[in-house]
Amino acid sequence: MGRIPTHIVDQIYQAVDVVEVVSDYVTLKKKGANFWGLSPWSNEKTPSFSVHPGKGIYKDFSSGKGGNAVNFVMEMEGLSYVEALKQLAKRYNIEIEEEEEPEEAKLQRDKRESLMIVNEFAASYFQEQLQTDEGKAIGLSYFKERGILEHTMKTFRLGYAPDAWQGLVDAAAQQQYKEEFLLDLGLVSRSEKNQKLFDRFRSRVMFPITNPMGKVVGFGGRILGNSKEKAKYINSSESEIYHKSRVLYGLSEAKQHIRNADRCILTEGYMDTIILHQNGIQNVVASSGTALTKEQVRLIRRFTKKVLMIYDGDAAGIKAALRGIDLLIKEEMDAQVLILPDKHDPDSYVREFGPTAFQEMCEKEALSFIDFKMRVLSQDQDPNDPQVQTAIIKGIADSLALIPDRVQRQMYIRHVAQQVDITEALMMHAVDEARREVSKTQARDRRREAAMQPPEQQQAPVKALKSFEQLDLANQEKEILRIMVCHFDKSLTDETGPVEDEEGNEVEKESVDLIAYLLVEMEGLIFENQTYEQLKQQMFEEYQQHQKINLNAYLSHPDPAICNLVADLLTAPEASPLWRRVRLDIVWDGNLTKVAEGAIYHYKSRKVEKLWQECREKIKEAQQKNDVEEGDRLLEMYMHLASMRKQIHEKLGTEGAINARDGQL
Ligand code: UTP
Ligand code: MN
Repeated sequence: MGRIPTHIVDQIYQAVDVVEVVSDYVTLKKKGANFWGLSPWSNEKTPSFSVHPGKGIYKDFSSGKGGNAVNFVMEMEGLSYVEALKQLAKRYNIEIEEEEEPEEAKLQRDKRESLMIVNEFAASYFQEQLQTDEGKAIGLSYFKERGILEHTMKTFRLGYAPDAWQGLVDAAAQQQYKEEFLLDLGLVSRSEKNQKLFDRFRSRVMFPITNPMGKVVGFGGRILGNSKEKAKYINSSESEIYHKSRVLYGLSEAKQHIRNADRCILTEGYMDTIILHQNGIQNVVASSGTALTKEQVRLIRRFTKKVLMIYDGDAAGIKAALRGIDLLIKEEMDAQVLILPDKHDPDSYVREFGPTAFQEMCEKEALSFIDFKMRVLSQDQDPNDPQVQTAIIKGIADSLALIPDRVQRQMYIRHVAQQVDITEALMMHAVDEARREVSKTQARDRRREAAMQPPEQQQAPVKALKSFEQLDLANQEKEILRIMVCHFDKSLTDETGPVEDEEGNEVEKESVDLIAYLLVEMEGLIFENQTYEQLKQQMFEEYQQHQKINLNAYLSHPDPAICNLVADLLTAPEASPLWRRVRLDIVWDGNLTKVAEGAIYHYKSRKVEKLWQECREKIKEAQQKNDVEEGDRLLEMYMHLASMRKQIHEKLGTEGAINARDGQL
């Protein structure tokens, strides 16, 4: 992957809107100047994920992650910095003229990126094949027969793999795509007989499978007609970019609609998704034949918490629905089930009864997971039979036991108790019982996992106890960094300095860059927290080299600890209430000079206090060892620190505090 020229990087940063970018993944609601939503990285019910458009950053308080739009895309898509920039460039129509890359870098080109490119090529190839004579006669006519319109074919990039062994192989060779990638993606295979490559998808209509951003990660290919000998669909093999359990067919087309409708319709098939989409029901995705997975549920949860599963009414469909319910409940999703009348799938239903009827059915016939379970468990049974009743209660309790949130669980228990007409206490008892079972299995799983871990990881490390009282400087250090990060481009004016020079002429008030001021004040002082120190050092260095600071560079820092810290600092309130209470003497009136001075002095006073204490301890040690020379040296240092301490406290007006403690040595 080539380098992106700096002016393009700047252009991308100027174009991206963090709210827009995040909204591709997280439903945001505006509160005041900022936006809030549910963290995409944790299972939460109250939003702790925030986006600050003014600062161009996001901060997730549940996971501690934070950064700018580029970091966010990196996190969500698992991309490198450059990949994320490219993706954003594309989204905002910024053309990247890549710089000539060195030969070596070319060889190391990121494999994922290459695989995506090859898939993209294959998707275009299959699309083009739909326009050849063979393609028109076979592929196109198949799609038309199934009622798919041309624009829908374009939207889903449907294609055709011709009846040939070397179609894609030859086309790829012509464009010099590496065989290795074609093989890895499962687009081609190597013949055992003559070692030649051949197309895996032949004489099939092709459905490209995309990731949420619309990049082609794999394919499904359907045979034409209904042959019993061949598999109806073949799919791309698992690769670095395609994991069957982690994709949802149609999500890139559906995500916006899912968010708007605040509901996701989950079908089983490619065709179901496409046909519903064409009929104006666009908040729809397919699990593509695999049993729903946790990863897929989490993909959906980025956009909504409500899922309507649509399955057919055969035994397999019901089993899939029951499994899906438990999976969704565990992730605190709201699960509904719609069972279609016999032998129908969404595609055939819409075709027979039309989209309006389908939508009406979704509204009227969709069952809550509780009603669905009740119906399944009581089907063909005598509802007055105590054994049947027990089975129903237990069956529902098994699902309710999976709800992580206690309050929510309680709400459901109340609701179910009313519905099946038993006391709440009894229902609660059944759920408690079921929970005990769940935690037993979980404990067993954990033990099993622990047994697989190498022994040194089994025990939590025991922290070494420090020999004397540790004065933590983290708050003071952080406050200085907060000022640096929030006000790096400002300067301080000397409020006390002369306004007239010696001859009585008015002079401009002297002003000094905030960073320069801190640089001087902090000289020789090292922050204890390593990340804090690293950020401080880098900002100082950058300032010294360029006389200015590019904050984006820190928000996109390769070390995530730095990104998170900067995001943290940018979103931190101007001094926490606690800090304000402790440090009443600092006037938070927005006067930056005062604020900066205050922070420096508080840091220094604490630092000196600490050094002073340490020094005292060491003097005691030296005395015990009768090390006179060391003792003298330390005493000198001690006197020096004591006078510094006094100066600082005079400045802060807190002499009383030190006098009271002075006699301690
Ligand atoms: P279906 O058999 O319901 O297929 O399988 P469909 O999508 O409705 O296709 P049509 O209507 O017959 O054309 C549901 C999904 O299961 C996966 C596919 O993703 C399919 O869309 N599947 C099915 C496979 O991956 N392989 C198979 O052999 C069959
Ligand atoms: Mn079908």
